[in-house]
Amino acid sequence: MSGIRIQPNGPYVLTGPLTIEDGEGNVITVAEGRIVKLCRCGHSATKPYCDGTHRRVDFVSRPTFEPEPVAAREARDGSDPSDA
Ligand code: FES
Repeated sequence: MSGIRIQPNGPYVLTGPLTIEDGEGNVITVAEGRIVKLCRCGHSATKPYCDGTHRRVDFVSRPTFEPEPVAAREARDGSDPSDA
């Protein structure tokens, strides 16, 4: 099953099938069942990929996922809350 898992104190773990596009339009395809780990700590030498440095720098993340507050989403997207 494709999706994104937030690894506690570690990277975003993406499971294919999916595609990732960078800011220059370069696309990589992740095949079904394959995984890609994207750095969340900001210390990887191979960004956007995780290289395990989060362990060395003792990266500590929030323990749980919290939905984005509606007000923040509206401010970013300009969406109307009555559309939800
Ligand atoms: S999350 Fe692993 S190096 Fe940043």
